[in-house]
Formats: sequence, C-alpha cells, structure tokens
Amino acid sequence: MSEQKLKVSIKTFGCQMNMYDSEVAGGLLSAKGFEIIPEEWERSGDGRKLLPAADVVLMNTCSVREHAEDRVYGRLGMLGKAKETNPELIVGLMGCMVEEHKEKLFRRFPQLDLMVGTRNIADLPALVEEVRRTRRQVSKIKQDGVSIEYTDQIQRQGHHHAWLPIMTGCNKVCTFCIVPITRGSEVSMPAREVYREAGRLAGEGVKWITLLGQNVNSYTGSGRDADAKQTGFPELLEMLCEIPGVERISFTTSHPHDATPELYRVIARNPKLSRRFHLPLQSGSDRMLKRMKRLHTYAEYLEKIRAMRAMIPDVSVTTDIIAGFSGETPEDHEATMRALEEIRYDGAYIYKYSVRPGTPAAKLEDDVPLETKETRNQELLQLQKKITEESNRQWLGRELEVFAEAPGAKDAAQLTGRSHQEKKVVFEGPRELLGSFVKVRVVGLAHDTLIAERL
Ligand code: SAH
Ligand code: F3S
Repeated sequence: MSEQKLKVSIKTFGCQMNMYDSEVAGGLLSAKGFEIIPEEWERSGDGRKLLPAADVVLMNTCSVREHAEDRVYGRLGMLGKAKETNPELIVGLMGCMVEEHKEKLFRRFPQLDLMVGTRNIADLPALVEEVRRTRRQVSKIKQDGVSIEYTDQIQRQGHHHAWLPIMTGCNKVCTFCIVPITRGSEVSMPAREVYREAGRLAGEGVKWITLLGQNVNSYTGSGRDADAKQTGFPELLEMLCEIPGVERISFTTSHPHDATPELYRVIARNPKLSRRFHLPLQSGSDRMLKRMKRLHTYAEYLEKIRAMRAMIPDVSVTTDIIAGFSGETPEDHEATMRALEEIRYDGAYIYKYSVRPGTPAAKLEDDVPLETKETRNQELLQLQKKITEESNRQWLGRELEVFAEAPGAKDAAQLTGRSHQEKKVVFEGPRELLGSFVKVRVVGLAHDTLIAERL
C-alpha cells in the first residue's frame, strides 16, 4: 500500500443485509491499510462545489424501489462534478444495483471507477488498488455462490448487537420484486458455519444477534456435523439458543409461506428468541395477492397470524405493504385498509409501488396514477400510525426487560434500548448499562417510543 492512508467512506442504502456487507467491506479495507471515515462533504476552495472528504467514495446500493436507485444516480451526478475538481477521487458501487445493471453503468457514468458484486466483497481492496494504479474502470461481479462473507476483520457498528446473514437470494417469484434477479436463487450457509460464527460473536461480547436472509425462514443448510441431515430454520434457531452469552436472537425477513406452527412452537419455548415477527402482507386483497404471486389468500395469512398469536401471546407483529400495485382498484385498497384494522399490526412499512425492470410485473400496466398511489399510501400510513399508538398503550404500567443499546439522542442522561418485542424504549440510566438487559416500567408514550423508568 501507499505511504499515506487513503480515506474511504461507505454509504449504505437499503436493507440490513447491506449494512452487514458494508461492515465487512469496512473491515477488509481497514485490514489492508485504508482508513474508514463517515461520509462527509466539504466546500471547494471557491465555495462553489461540494467535495467528499474521502479519497474513495463507495455506495452500497439497493434496487428494491426506484427511489433508492434515483438517490444513487443523484450522488453519482454530484461525484462526477467533484471529480472535475479532484480527478484522483475514486468512486465505487457495491450491492444490488451492481448485480442489476452490471458494467452497463460504466458507459452511463464515466465518473464511476469500480463495481463490486455482492459475492465479491473480499476483492474490494485489490480493486481499489487497481483503479489507483491503472485509472481504468474495473469490476468483479461473480454469478454464483453465496454472497455471505464471515470474517473476524468485520468492523461492526454495534458492540453488543451483530447482524448475521444465514442465507441469501429468493426462490419465490413475487411479481413486483427484483430480489430474485439481483440476489439470485436461495443459498444457505451450512449450519455448522452459522453456529461457529455465532459462537465467535458471543466470544467478542455480542449478546444479541439478528439473523438475516431475503427469505430467512426458508433456510435449509447442511447440518451441524459433516454427516448430519439438512437443518431447517426452526432447528437452526434452537441450535443457536444453546450458545452461552447469546441472550437474544431475532431474524428478518420471513415469507408467510414458510411461517409454520413448528416455527411458532420453537419461538414460544425459547425465551432467547425475539418476540417480534415481521411478516410482509403486501395487500389485503386476494385479487392483488394473486397478481403479486404471494402464494396465499388473505384468509390463509390471517389464520397464520392468529395461530402465531395464540402460541406466542406476547408477540409483536409487523408487516410490509405496497400501495398502488398494478390493477389496484379502490376496493382492493379498501381491503388493505380493512386488513390493517383487523390484524392491528404493531408497525408497518408502507411503500408506493414502483415498477422494477425485468420483474414479471414490469409486463403489467403500471396503471395507478402517482397521485392515487400517494393518497393511498398516506391513508394507510395514517391508519397504521393510529393503530400503532393505540396498541402501544397496552404497555403502559407494565414491566419490561430492555436491551440497552445506545446513549439517548437528545438527553445524555438517557439510554435507548429495545424490548423483547423490539419496541424502542427510552429511560434514564448510566452508560455502564449499555449492552446489558435492564428492568424498567413503562410510564409514558411518545409516538412509537415507550418512555420508561428503571426499576
Ligand atoms: N424478503 C425481502 C423483501 C424484499 S423487499 C427482504 O426483506 O429481504 C422489502 C419490501 O419492499 C417488500 O416486502 C415490499 O413490500 C417492498 N417492495 C418490493 N418490491 C417493491 C416494488 N417494486 N415497489 C414497491 N415496494 C416494493
Ligand atoms: Fe421478493 Fe417475494 Fe422473495 S418479496 S425477496 S420475491 S419473497
């Protein structure tokens, strides 16, 4: 490497899988002598341009919605201007946009120096060096294999919490979704490797692990021992619960098709397993669910939620909803509103539909006008906000065990943490409590945050 450490910033868009990959990229680059800095922009000498503080600007991108891609294009524009002033600047992309567009992006954006696929993160340091040496556009985008890298060089953001990807890709065919194109077919890490990595994390003082996968509950890895049979998701969870030091395990994202009573039973009998279940519904209308190829009707989905709630009484359920999918009528939208009322989720991520090129739904007409998508989106958001606030009232006066995660954002005497349902809780307490489980009583509510006092 060079005399002086090159500064690298990594901006992450999209899902937790990307957050994990950025932590890996940061760790591997640091190990090779680069300095990782937060993304910062400075005014140029004449005050007319914004220039990045880093020598190498990386963006870990997301393709799930058009908006996420547009933000990256906007930044590429700014970085192109910055390069007119500082031609040495290195601009690189990681993540799903690389998988989606591949080298085509080099032609469209001459300011782009490097692209690294989701299965090639380990090549990143060498690629940056190659750009420096040759000033050519370089890329590495592997087509197969697993896009998960376990490494003790990872630079984790959390001291006591860690992401742990266990599978990637998706074998479902939801018509709106680009993930099967960008992340490919499902590939699971062998159970023994997941177990070993979780044990390593526990050894570093990690107490809470979030298992990640595009379709986490369809995990099927080869067993813990070389000759063992396949390990399914419920078995993997039970195995990980045995690891001393790991006190909480959560997971995201699940598909309803693979949400089974067996899984609920395992959660119910293991207090280490998080009491939050994220189960995307997308729409409350059977006509839409069919058009989306979600593999179930609304009634079947509702039955799953009822069984889950019966078996895990303190579970908190959250969801994803798409507003304004192709062909959505006012009646379909009303069905989704009714579903929110009926299920009374603890929270929901609600998105306006955007066409993703290459997906099956790209062949359908995107016939819901943008203003209608916006109105429906707002109606759903407002309804869910009301339900979230109402359902949080049940926590008032109750005692909770909270994992203390971070100092309070506004008040230095406060800490923020997550309850077993992964609700955000704010309470007063010293910093020594960070990384531990603290008993509190809920005394108030502020939007979707619980305000509590230490017991
Ligand atoms: N199982 C995946 C889900 C993929 S995307 C995972 O979490 O890794 C996350 C959410 O984005 C989906 O549940 C869906 O609600 C939303 N989404 C996906 N494609 C979309 C599109 N074309 N337009 C709008 N929202 C979309
Ligand atoms: Fe996407 Fe459906 Fe798979 S939302 S990630 S295709 S389960």
